[in-house]
Amino acid sequence: MNRNKSVHRRTVLQAVAGTGFLLTLSPGFLLTGCDGGVRATESGTLGLDSEEYDVELNLHATPDSVPILPGAPSEVWRYRAELLKGPGGTLSENPDSYLGPTIRLRRGQKVKIHIHNELPEDTTVHWHGLHVPSDVDGQPRLPIQPGETTTIGFEVLDRAGLFWYHSHAHGEQGGRVGFQSYAGLVGLLIVEDEEEAGLGLPSGDNELLLVLQDRTFAGVNGLVYLDDGMGAMMDRMHGFLGDRILVNGVPPATRKVATRPYRIRVLNGSNARIYKLAWSDGRPVTVIGADGGLLPEPEDRPYATLAPAQRLDIWLDLSEAQPGSTLELISDSFQAGMMGGMGMMGSNALPLGSRFTLVSLEVAESVEASERIPAQLGLRRRRIPVSSTTRIRSFELSPVMMRGFTINGRHFEGNRVADDEKVRLGDTEIWEFHNNTPMPHPMHIHGLQFNVVGRQGGSSDSLQLGLVDSGWHDTVLVMPRETVQLAMKFERFDGLYIYHCHNMEHEDAGMMRYFQVQS
Ligand code: C2O
Ligand code: CU
Ligand code: CU
Repeated sequence: MNRNKSVHRRTVLQAVAGTGFLLTLSPGFLLTGCDGGVRATESGTLGLDSEEYDVELNLHATPDSVPILPGAPSEVWRYRAELLKGPGGTLSENPDSYLGPTIRLRRGQKVKIHIHNELPEDTTVHWHGLHVPSDVDGQPRLPIQPGETTTIGFEVLDRAGLFWYHSHAHGEQGGRVGFQSYAGLVGLLIVEDEEEAGLGLPSGDNELLLVLQDRTFAGVNGLVYLDDGMGAMMDRMHGFLGDRILVNGVPPATRKVATRPYRIRVLNGSNARIYKLAWSDGRPVTVIGADGGLLPEPEDRPYATLAPAQRLDIWLDLSEAQPGSTLELISDSFQAGMMGGMGMMGSNALPLGSRFTLVSLEVAESVEASERIPAQLGLRRRRIPVSSTTRIRSFELSPVMMRGFTINGRHFEGNRVADDEKVRLGDTEIWEFHNNTPMPHPMHIHGLQFNVVGRQGGSSDSLQLGLVDSGWHDTVLVMPRETVQLAMKFERFDGLYIYHCHNMEHEDAGMMRYFQVQS
């Protein structure tokens, strides 16, 4: 594993004086012959052994070169997939983007996926937000080596929602999540169910999927991540911010729309950037869903805060819009304070808290559409009941001089689990994160969706009104000095899971731990 990594660092990343590392990968470099087919290393299916699968697919993590900016294509790492079995709409390719195919699953389906690692280093595929067995969760303890294939199986148990998949590799030298996701190893996964289908929300062309990321380029459209200099140290400390925004893998664009309602589903797939979603004409943002699917009812917010890894489902009604007019979805400016490293060395062209456009919607057509926003949305899943006797487990987030951040004084230690990181299968607990740092941390817990029970003491208010805490979540933004309580229930699966900060540079620097669900 280490050997591959050092080979990788010399050959894949080339130092370019003063501009950091370019992600330049020569196509001839692939280590082993990844010349197709499931490799011999396949040894049964992890997670779920079933006679019958409803969906079966090949998923390749592979180097590629795709157009991102005008001019030369960029070298990326990306997912490609082939549907071997299953309904026709299961995969939608994003051919002109490095984004992996969007995978559409239905609750109750049994899914089998052959993951082929065609990269020159270890990788894993994590199904962010899904309630799946520990062994198929794509954790760093089960790396897929270059040239290897791992086959996993799981049943789709989650309610309808927007999930995503990405790399979760972490080697001896530290995490590779930041690098691999940045290189392009990210895709959307949509779960559908009957409850949601019954609401008749806008679909097809009237459902917009937006993946928000930021990237920095240098040379001939080469992606730049962290270099070895002082700037990189600051980037690691704050999290990497690109100097331009990409939406679905390309610069923000104009989209033609009609006078009708739209469902806009947004993933923050950035390494570290927080977005403050707002409409250019000042209309409220109508939030209908979050990480774990639809909220009980729609909520109007002046703006909506979207931290790394989080998803939001937004209703936009353009029925009254003037044909010819344009409405922009923007990320509005906010006070990042210390968190963006503003005024510090290596100052970024697009600091955290900058204002920019994400998509321009040009009303090009008048139509008669009948969809109304449902007054009641996702009511079927009841909140996790908690009381004064529910066990509270506390986690303190603290800074360590030059070494990033710790959780209860600890960094990532592989699959080592401390005594206070063991929970009982079937138990309900309140996890309380206390942020004793000057930065916000998007804390993520694997394998489940939780409810936010409360927040106290947050110091920053320029994002506060946009924090969506109702409904179900797998990632919560904990503001500087704030304490946040989450209700969670450890159901169905025992074994090892992870919790971590989803600022990928924080995570890679060790702000991540395993916890164990014991039966
Ligand atoms: Cu998006 Cu540990 O995950
Ligand atoms: Cu996750
Ligand atoms: Cu963090």
